[in-house]
Amino acid sequence: MNKAQHAGPLARFIDDMTALVGSTQDERALLAQGRQLLSRLIENDQWLPAECARALPDRYAQYLLHVDPQQRFSLVSFVWGPGQKTPVHDHTVWGLVGMLRGAERCEEFNLVDGSPQPTGQSHVLQPGQIEAVSPTVGDWHRVSNAMADRASISIHVYGADIGQVRRHYLDAQGQIAEFVSGYTAHGGSFEHHP
Ligand code: FE2
Repeated sequence: MNKAQHAGPLARFIDDMTALVGSTQDERALLAQGRQLLSRLIENDQWLPAECARALPDRYAQYLLHVDPQQRFSLVSFVWGPGQKTPVHDHTVWGLVGMLRGAERCEEFNLVDGSPQPTGQSHVLQPGQIEAVSPTVGDWHRVSNAMADRASISIHVYGADIGQVRRHYLDAQGQIAEFVSGYTAHGGSFEHHP
């Protein structure tokens, strides 16, 4: 047995995901098999380092847990304090969102003539549940903490170094604008916006 098999759920996930992205570039296969790996990772709530579970007072946090050296995937913990939410945004690459603690509300958007329009529908992810995003399966949404009195945490895997990806959000005037998210430093500062 190799050493990583004894190093806990996070190391195991990284090993297995590295093998997966080395075996296929097919998005459907990556989403299906990545979902199995992420499901196993989030069924255990003991492995997330405390510094990657900390809510910030003024905005949601996104802590990088791992980035593949070839940028074929990245793993990020998102921490939402009470009342915190994203803007309406896209991803431009495949992604899987797995709920670890608390719950998050996802407001659904459809692209209509290149413009994201609210469907009026939303759903709440509960611990252990996973959803997929990508330009193929639906890429625009707004996410918020569904818990009024505590932080919620979800674990995200994306098919790129997501903190470096140029993508889009709706600004305060409702116009599509570009952003590069970066990652939250463990000290709490944030490099980019939104
Ligand atoms: Fe998102």
